[in-house]
Amino acid sequence: MTSVGIDAIEIHTGKLKLDLAETFAPEMGDDPEKYTKGLGLHASSFPDAYEDIVTMGANAAHRLLERKGLEPADVGRIDVATESAFDNSKPVSTYIAGCLEQVYDGDFHHANKGERKFACIAGTQSLDDAVNWILAGRNRGRGALVIATDTALYARDSSGEATQGAGAVAMWITEDPDIVELSTEQGYGSADETDFLKPNQQFPSVDGKRSMQVYLARMREALQDFERATGASHPNDYAFIPFHTPFPGMVRKAAVLGYRHMIRGTDIEEELAADIGRQPRRERFDSDDAFEDAISEYVDGLTDTDAYREWYDAAIQPTLSISSQVGNWYTGSVHLARFSALKHAAENGIDLAGKRLLVASYGSGAQAEIHSETVQDGFTEAVAASTVDEQIEQRYDISFAEYEQVHDRHNHEKSVELEPFTQPDAEFVFDGWGPMNERKYTYVE
Ligand code: CAA
Repeated sequence: MTSVGIDAIEIHTGKLKLDLAETFAPEMGDDPEKYTKGLGLHASSFPDAYEDIVTMGANAAHRLLERKGLEPADVGRIDVATESAFDNSKPVSTYIAGCLEQVYDGDFHHANKGERKFACIAGTQSLDDAVNWILAGRNRGRGALVIATDTALYARDSSGEATQGAGAVAMWITEDPDIVELSTEQGYGSADETDFLKPNQQFPSVDGKRSMQVYLARMREALQDFERATGASHPNDYAFIPFHTPFPGMVRKAAVLGYRHMIRGTDIEEELAADIGRQPRRERFDSDDAFEDAISEYVDGLTDTDAYREWYDAAIQPTLSISSQVGNWYTGSVHLARFSALKHAAENGIDLAGKRLLVASYGSGAQAEIHSETVQDGFTEAVAASTVDEQIEQRYDISFAEYEQVHDRHNHEKSVELEPFTQPDAEFVFDGWGPMNERKYTYVE
């Protein structure tokens, strides 16, 4: 079968930084470690006055096309995933194509464009659509540009405020990819939930604590469904497990449950039995509550074992490093986690070629999806070309008063004027509204 997957990845972070420990925690009257240790977040990225989901997506896509030496004629589709759309009809992908047409001789009239919505999982669904399009043989030698772009803003003083973020991940999907090949087996866990939603409103209605339970429940279903397709998974099958990362603390909770599931009935459970006993089996308990309590106790013990810690440090921790500096990017989040792991491997000389990743995506509302990917020979070079470290480093560090202005600037109901904190440099910028209330964009040299 043709090998299809991700050939290139480019990231664009919002150009402002809110330091959670230094700037946000004191204003909230919180211990900074609630953020740095509890949630696992050090900072959030925010869009400057001239940035939005279109500029961030177009800038990431432009860098990607330039690096790969691609022209509009090479692009057969532009799929954008976002949960921050500002138009119920015209898709963000048309705006992004319009931006790119300002800097290329050709156009994207031949390219199929769309916009995917299912909270944070839409980025993975768009990737999937692109892969399926190529596998179906409908691409006529062209590749697909998949862009996950979001301004993940919450209402001021709401529970999610510390987990905000803004940025875009652009991915180039082709045959014989340089970075990862996607497997065709997938597992789903999907249910009608009201954990997090935006019923025609910009900022989410969110039941924070419940959303965490829904995330874990759907992930469990997705793993079970994945195993129905592939057989039982073992922790050693995967070099890294990138999860959807609303904040690293969420992944800490999901990872230990995934590990417990995967070691059930294996050599690892056997070896750990002397220290923490065997996993509780439902048939030995009179009630669900008693069983759940026993599982919680087992999981607490498991978290403290050397076997678990070593696995977590190797397979999970490296997926969290970018996220801990930029916050939640919704649709881009799991793709940042994958990139973070690949970057860690490239920088530490870990030869990943031929090894597998287990990618665990999630979107509120709610759905989880799990699939595996095989890392390709070209991953080191492809990842080394990224400027993500410089972008993160160069962000303008906003004060709390500036944060309040930035939040108001990007609040659709306020949208106040604001002098930018940074200078655009060879990038697309938001340039005001046109006569039909459309957004306008310019390329600044
Ligand atoms: N030192 C160390 N740790 C501390 C601490 C301190 N001083 N103070 C608190 N903590 C710990 C807490 O114990 C807690 O950790 P545990 O959950 O492991 O116990 C953690 O820090 C967070 O503290 P709280 O639970 O008190 O935080 P909170 O109630 O203010 O907010 C939240 C947590 C509900 C998740 C909130 O951030 C939120 O609503 N977020 C938005 C929703 C979200 O991201 N949900 C995740 C699943 S849904 C999803 O994934 C989709 C999506 O992208 C939105």
